[in-house]
Amino acid sequence: MANQVEQQREQWGSKIGFILAAAGSAVGLGNIWKFPYVTGTNGGGAFVVIYVAMVACIGFSVMLAELVIGRNAQLNAVGSFKKIKGGAWPAVGWLGLACGALILSYYGVVGGWTIKYILHSFTGLMELAAAGQAGDAFGGFISNPIMVILYQALFMFITIWVVYRGVGEGIERYCKVLMPGLFILLIVLIGRSVTLEGAGEGISFYLKPDFSKVTAGTVLAALGQAFFSLSLGMGCMITYGSYLQKDISLPGAAAQVCFLDTMVALLAGLVIFPAVFAFGVEPGAGPGLTFITLPGIFAQMPGGMIWSALFFLLLFVAALTSAISLLEVACAYFIDKGWSRAKAAWTMGTLIFLLGIPSGISLGGGLKIAGKDFMDVAGFFTDQIMMPLGGMLISIFVGWVIADVAKDEVTGNGRIPVFAGFDIWMIFVKFVSPLAILYIFVTGLKW
Ligand code: PHE
Repeated sequence: MANQVEQQREQWGSKIGFILAAAGSAVGLGNIWKFPYVTGTNGGGAFVVIYVAMVACIGFSVMLAELVIGRNAQLNAVGSFKKIKGGAWPAVGWLGLACGALILSYYGVVGGWTIKYILHSFTGLMELAAAGQAGDAFGGFISNPIMVILYQALFMFITIWVVYRGVGEGIERYCKVLMPGLFILLIVLIGRSVTLEGAGEGISFYLKPDFSKVTAGTVLAALGQAFFSLSLGMGCMITYGSYLQKDISLPGAAAQVCFLDTMVALLAGLVIFPAVFAFGVEPGAGPGLTFITLPGIFAQMPGGMIWSALFFLLLFVAALTSAISLLEVACAYFIDKGWSRAKAAWTMGTLIFLLGIPSGISLGGGLKIAGKDFMDVAGFFTDQIMMPLGGMLISIFVGWVIADVAKDEVTGNGRIPVFAGFDIWMIFVKFVSPLAILYIFVTGLKW
């Protein structure tokens, strides 16, 4: 196995290519679909403050830890632990592989919704939204299992195809072109959203923290959302770090990705919440929030159809660049094992598509587990259990088991001046992150 890997491991073409691909993984449905709805169901402004604190205190240090592991080992998530230390540690990689597959199973469903909405923009969505029926339209669509699964299949097919094309040719190329477009469009949409009549109430719900509503569950939800949004705790950044050249500064890269990802989430909230209140939608409405409020905004813009199609196209692209990173985690394992890229991408992609079907049909009211939608249950396991657990173990691994290796990676064997930064980060990976995650986990976990 090792020979094959050393001979021909793929690499990113450039530093900016890596940043955009990692940001492409991080920025996705988590920012534009999930962040607003989780903020809405967790009471608004106070959640936003806690979320940003989680990114800064825990997210950044776990991301750096993952990049360190991946770039040092130059292998997939399981192989990296095996190569650096062995013992029981590869289990952390396996947990990551399982988590990535489970996330992608329902992610593909929502990815399919974005495709549907690109097309629907031209086929009556604007008229429905103008008549105040965007919610009914969404409900009608997701309760039609055949359509939902067809679009999910299409989304997964495209994901598999890009992964099959490989690291530089496929993943990097697409991220570089389309991520900046999303950013610009969000700014335009904020302009429209905050000037809607009644927007003020939404802005204060979103930006005025009311800490009296905060519970331990809120804090765990913020932690889980931070892991989800930054693609952490499940080996994705280990895998992407493994394609990284040795001369790139890891702390800088991690900081840039965290910053970009958080900006996009915060901007997305500023698009959604003013509109939620302007159109009288319930902020705790759940997974449909983005798909229900945005058409309402577009319907009030000249050329709304075009804006709508453009927005959902970019949301689709953001989802795709995250989905490919999710599929890449599992594929990298099998490719390092000697499978061809084609075989790994098609086999894993198809299995994950099948795993997603129960989520796809659950929201229409079909499939429930203990009274909850299957999709929510899958999300609960990945966000609130698997990713925080993975992040905690990754921190412990880097802080306690391979601190010397980490120092070489972070400082480029002493070439990159990091001043006290390394020691502060060590305090985080050794103590702050594991203990904070454990505490939040124990106090906040509730079915
Ligand atoms: N971060 C992605 C998003 O916000 C989702 C994701 C999670 C991607 C974990 C990869 C790994 O949409």
